[in-house]
Amino acid sequence: MGGSPSFPRETLSSDKIVIVTGGNTGIGYETAKWIAMLGAHVIIACRSKDRAMHATTKMKADFEDEKKKGTPNLTTGELSLEFMELDLSSLNSTEKFIEEFKASGKLLHVLICNAGLGMHPLAYTEDGNEMMFQVNYLGHFLIIVKLLPVMLRSGSDCRIVLVSSIAHKWTSFDLDKIQAKQYNEANFDRADYYYKSKLYQVMQMYCLNRRIDQSNVTVNSLHPGVVDSEFTRSFRDDCSWTWRYKCAKCIGLAITPYKGAITSIDAAINRKHVGLRDIYFDKCTPANSSSEARNVENQEQLWWYSLNCLQGHLKEEDLQIFSTKS
Ligand SMILES: NC(=O)c1ccc[n+]([C@@H]2O[C@H](COP(=O)([O-])OP(=O)(O)OC[C@H]3O[C@@H](n4cnc5c(N)ncnc54)[C@H](OP(=O)(O)O)[C@@H]3O)[C@@H](O)[C@H]2O)c1
Repeated sequence: MGGSPSFPRETLSSDKIVIVTGGNTGIGYETAKWIAMLGAHVIIACRSKDRAMHATTKMKADFEDEKKKGTPNLTTGELSLEFMELDLSSLNSTEKFIEEFKASGKLLHVLICNAGLGMHPLAYTEDGNEMMFQVNYLGHFLIIVKLLPVMLRSGSDCRIVLVSSIAHKWTSFDLDKIQAKQYNEANFDRADYYYKSKLYQVMQMYCLNRRIDQSNVTVNSLHPGVVDSEFTRSFRDDCSWTWRYKCAKCIGLAITPYKGAITSIDAAINRKHVGLRDIYFDKCTPANSSSEARNVENQEQLWWYSLNCLQGHLKEEDLQIFSTKS
């Protein structure tokens, strides 16, 4: 205990396949880069090919720098990186990503649900869902449900890592308000709806583990820290929030994307965590999630509501894995 959070710098098998959503920048970039530098095959799932290619080029340059520094246990080969297009604000795009991944015939050992939008103004996706609900939570829900069968046959230690936030503790669950239809642009509390999307992720962790607790797949969640990334993009128009982030940076509270990625990387690869589930990590250490997140009745309401939102994208066979426990 104590000391700076860190992850084990141990070489990973080149057969290990890891998906990082939003792996092109910020926390996701560092997460994808370090897991690839340790030797795994990493799929950067993001919405812009240009941004992914830019990230890949930068990762390769960073890798050369790390080799020059003599960082131990890096892969001796090239970085094994792949781009796959994924726009979580579109369930069609998300389904296309899933189908392309399945068609590749690859196994899947780690799925890191990292992509996210912070404090977005009131907006709806083409599927009619509140933007942060879908991008941060529901889109990942679809990926998880549809790729779970692949993970269930991918070997003994498969992990789903949900990049949530401490902000999940600052809100409450209200089924009737999930889509924010009661609000308009002026009275929509964008911070609260961001917190809610992060709460849903922690609630989802418990729901999933309850249904697959005898399996090789574990689900954990985490808070990365306050991270100086591109996260402020979606609330640059909101002075009060940009100001808070600037202050956090000035007084040294905001950490680098690398430091912000440490908890994700640790949750994804640390051998100490084999078989651990239902953990909400903060600084690589198990921490308490909110009592709201642990409320089983609410979790189940969210689960069934989410499945309802995904009607048309889920087939009966997709849900068969849960049928014994639902
Ligand atoms: N930064 C913090 O202080 C902080 C604190 C707690 C939790 N978190 C969580 O950490 C995660 C990563 O955040 P970050 O700080 O690294 O933010 P970031 O630098 O803004 O990166 C966010 C990533 O999400 C992707 N993304 C956004 N909308 C998407 C969509 N519709 N489809 C697919 N990908 C999409 C972005 O892609 P584009 O580049 O194409 O936009 C980008 O790759 C988020 O889930 C966030 O909630 C962050």
